Amino acid sequence: MIKQAIIPLAGLGTRLLPLTSVLPKELLPMNGKPGLEYILDECLEAGIKQIIFVISVKKKIIKDYFYNDAFFKKIIKKKKNDKRLKSEYLKIKKLKKMIKFVYQNKPKGTGDAVLKCNKLIKSKHFLMLLPDDLIIKKNCSVGMIKLHKKYNSSVVASKKVPKREVSRWGIFKFNRLKDKNFIIKDVIEKPNIKSAPSNYAVIGRYILPKKIFSVLKKQKPGKNGEIHITDAIKSLIEEKNSFIGHVFAGKYLDCGTMKGYINSTIEISRLRL
Ligand code: G1P
Repeated sequence: MIKQAIIPLAGLGTRLLPLTSVLPKELLPMNGKPGLEYILDECLEAGIKQIIFVISVKKKIIKDYFYNDAFFKKIIKKKKNDKRLKSEYLKIKKLKKMIKFVYQNKPKGTGDAVLKCNKLIKSKHFLMLLPDDLIIKKNCSVGMIKLHKKYNSSVVASKKVPKREVSRWGIFKFNRLKDKNFIIKDVIEKPNIKSAPSNYAVIGRYILPKKIFSVLKKQKPGKNGEIHITDAIKSLIEEKNSFIGHVFAGKYLDCGTMKGYINSTIEISRLRL
């Protein structure tokens, strides 16, 4: 059963400056709620019971967002009839109970962020979601958990990308695509166009095995000196662990760049009309 999720949140968000000079990118509003809440909603709908936030001291404000009880209580006491405020506060309170915080003070990569959660992960598999990647209209995690149950395999979300963009993504090598799923043969972090084995990219939803921690512990830094989760997955595949690529049906929104963030807010506001 997949009951735990990790969300790496320690990135600097430099591509969204100046918006992120004070506010973490994950708290930037998207049509009336922080972008992060869309990711949390996806987790709740997928039956996740505990969420581990990997934050940094600089981004402690993310914790404050969920720990502002005294302030909310004071205002709610004054505005007794404000139903909206009350229900929003109840949601935050519910989420607070589910969230654990761990710290990654140097942004050394997604693999390093996952490794920081080592002691908290209890079950054989867990979910990991990258908050820059929003997937709307269809819950990607729900689909991946179904696949995991059916094949007892690790699962990574995927999307076909234009060939000229392969160097921005982790890229899969696979044999055949059946019903929008494939067996992953290899994965390469941000290859150049000539060495890319396909144009199917890794998108930020992963169901990973607990044994990835032992791989991460001994992993050397990869591209740009970071510990990538992609490289740990590559090692596990080489050791004959099964990984399925899932070409999700929902709509992908990139929230990590300024252009992407602006476009995502427009797309999401259309959705909630
Ligand atoms: C990360 C991963 C990459 C993946 C991408 C999806 O890259 O390292 O493999 O394709 O997320 O968004 P980043 O966006 O952190 O550069």
